[in-house]
Amino acid sequence: MTRIIDGKATAAEIRREVATGVAELRDRHGVQAHLALLLVGDDPASHVYVRNKGKACDEVGMRSTIVRHAADVSANVVLDQVRAWNADPSVHGILVQLPLPRHIDEEQVLLTIDPDKDVDGFHPMNAGRLMIGADGFVPCTPAGIIELLKRYEIPTSGKHAVVIGRSNIVGKPISMLLAQKRPQGNATVTMCHTGTTDLATHTRQADIIIAAVGVAKLITADHVKEGVVVIDVGMNRETLEDGTSKLCGDVDFAAVSPKAAAITPVPGGVGPMTIAMLLNNTLLAARRSAQ
Ligand SMILES: NC(=O)c1ccc[n+]([C@@H]2O[C@H](COP(=O)([O-])OP(=O)(O)OC[C@H]3O[C@@H](n4cnc5c(N)ncnc54)[C@H](OP(=O)(O)O)[C@@H]3O)[C@@H](O)[C@H]2O)c1
Repeated sequence: MTRIIDGKATAAEIRREVATGVAELRDRHGVQAHLALLLVGDDPASHVYVRNKGKACDEVGMRSTIVRHAADVSANVVLDQVRAWNADPSVHGILVQLPLPRHIDEEQVLLTIDPDKDVDGFHPMNAGRLMIGADGFVPCTPAGIIELLKRYEIPTSGKHAVVIGRSNIVGKPISMLLAQKRPQGNATVTMCHTGTTDLATHTRQADIIIAAVGVAKLITADHVKEGVVVIDVGMNRETLEDGTSKLCGDVDFAAVSPKAAAITPVPGGVGPMTIAMLLNNTLLAARRSAQ
């Protein structure tokens, strides 16, 4: 019997827990958790993401501030805004929506964010903390994957996890997390990418597959063994015969799910976890500031 890992329900559970934490922090310590979001330009998807993040904050009783700039804003204005939030003790989390317009150096902006307010976990300081197993901020999508494995009581210790993808926001951090010497880690991790020869020989050995590729239905039934756990991070658009399109993952769900012990659907798997973990990271930042 294949278990469907329900990210939507798990994310809703986490949001309820965050709402309780936000209220407690306010009532006991007088601290109002606060996320500041910066959006530059007119990319429609980015506008939707930022609006959804602001709405998610409202729903858990968290304060949010959204600053929007036109695409031609100077880099200095963006950097000054980040510096102002760094210095503002009422702001606990800072998120700069990516991508930024070409004339703004993304790396410089990310480096300017105070690592203790970097709730996206993209600052090299937090990447380094993750690497050495120290407390920091873990990028939201990998943090969400670990949370799904934990809440569905899927053991990772001693298992062989194959991660497909080596991006800084998903592939590398989830590989690091799974390899950490702790209960939700302790796996033997193989990281695959475009340089990997014969992907299927690796994925067929996997007890756990994390697909973070961006190629629709790359992983087929032939890529997996019976009883595998599949976490599909991919968010791809598939064009249907009638010309419409629908969201699909990196895994061919219909073909792979009969062989899987557990699998995340797309949509409704990893996707909803990302904003839930952003809220969780912001609450963590607010709690740390209260201590
Ligand atoms: N659910 C969420 O909240 C969420 C969050 C983030 C991302 N995503 C989705 O997850 C997917 C990956 O995102 P990303 O930002 O990590 O993407 P990315 O930066 O484009 O990285 C993709 C990785 O996949 C590897 N790759 C590409 N084609 C491959 C192939 N045929 N065989 C093996 N490896 C291959 C690439 O290898 P090279 O390094 O060699 O190029 C790269 O490491 C996308 O669909 C994205 O939309 C979802």
